[in-house]
Amino acid sequence: MEDVNRRLVLAERPIGMVDGSTVRMENVPIPGPGQNEALVRVQYLSIDPTIRTWMDDAPGYLPPIGIGDVVRGAGIGEVVATNSDRYAVGDLVFGLLGWQDYAVAGEGDAALQTLPAGVAPTLALNLFGVNGMTAYFGLLDVGRMAEGDVVVVSGAAGATGSAVGQIAKLKGAAKVVGLAGTDEKCRWIVDQLGFDEAINYRTDNVGRRLREACPNGIDLYFDNVGGMILDTCLGQLALRGRVVLCGAISTYNDKRRPAGPGNYRNLIGLRGRMEGFIILDYVDRFPEAQAAMFGWLTEGRIHHAEHVVKGLESAPDALNLLFTGGNMGKVIVEI
Ligand SMILES: NC(=O)c1ccc[n+]([C@@H]2O[C@H](COP(=O)([O-])OP(=O)(O)OC[C@H]3O[C@@H](n4cnc5c(N)ncnc54)[C@H](OP(=O)(O)O)[C@@H]3O)[C@@H](O)[C@H]2O)c1
Repeated sequence: MEDVNRRLVLAERPIGMVDGSTVRMENVPIPGPGQNEALVRVQYLSIDPTIRTWMDDAPGYLPPIGIGDVVRGAGIGEVVATNSDRYAVGDLVFGLLGWQDYAVAGEGDAALQTLPAGVAPTLALNLFGVNGMTAYFGLLDVGRMAEGDVVVVSGAAGATGSAVGQIAKLKGAAKVVGLAGTDEKCRWIVDQLGFDEAINYRTDNVGRRLREACPNGIDLYFDNVGGMILDTCLGQLALRGRVVLCGAISTYNDKRRPAGPGNYRNLIGLRGRMEGFIILDYVDRFPEAQAAMFGWLTEGRIHHAEHVVKGLESAPDALNLLFTGGNMGKVIVEI
């Protein structure tokens, strides 16, 4: 065991992308676990776009990260000391462990749910973690995907979007179209993941390609990006089309309020529905989705990719990968 806890704290609020002055590395003593607590050595960090939103001093579904506080983020680690009946040494614990080497787990904290044997810890941060759960419940519960739907998903080569498109196929979508930012990503989602079509939103004419791919309109649009892509998809909804508002990554580094999509009004005439959601509301039902994931995984019917970056000090650069599109699959920091 190293004798210090290295931790990354928020030094100042970023304007735009995070940079060298956003976080500061501190060396502090390793915290001792108190009564009913366990000490966890963090192994992997889940790098999520929402971390960028927590760095702003703005209201949200969780409070902003305080200046001087450890950057909040999910991770997985191993219990190395315990004063709790709930945690044994060697247990893997998943939760908001933060950007640091060691974290203290209390008995009330969310701990890793039992994973099927043979599932790697990095998968607990991907298909079996927030991204897989978001894809599953966002598509099936919030989006009420039905067999025969024409489904479009943005951020399609990302951790969440890549699972959305595959689950849509597994659940009988008539067609699944993905939007991604490079030709390599477009090839991956079609050739390896089984999407029917891919559109490179940086080089293709998105409106025209969507009209060709979905001549009768989009039954379900799963939105990970917001902005112009959301607006274009709203303009091509089918009768009783649905829009799942999962995220708006195209706006997270913006200082200005994004311009409102004019095509929202299509929801009225087409009796469409769009609904935002936060995956934390589904925690009690994670085992249901994890059982489905495990079945698909062992049958070789669902695929995943991890983009692993080494070293705690690389966490800010890893966060920026989400915004430059430098990642293929789930971004994870290995400590
Ligand atoms: N509602 C919830 O509870 C919940 C839970 C988890 C995640 N989310 C949301 O889901 C979305 C995806 O998150 P993730 O963790 O799975 O990340 P991810 O998709 O693995 O990575 C982010 C991807 O977004 C794309 N992107 C970045 N800037 C963009 C822009 N301006 N326009 C279009 N695409 C852009 C990039 O791919 P390209 O190369 O294709 O541009 C990048 O690889 C985020 O909006 C996140 O906030 C919501």
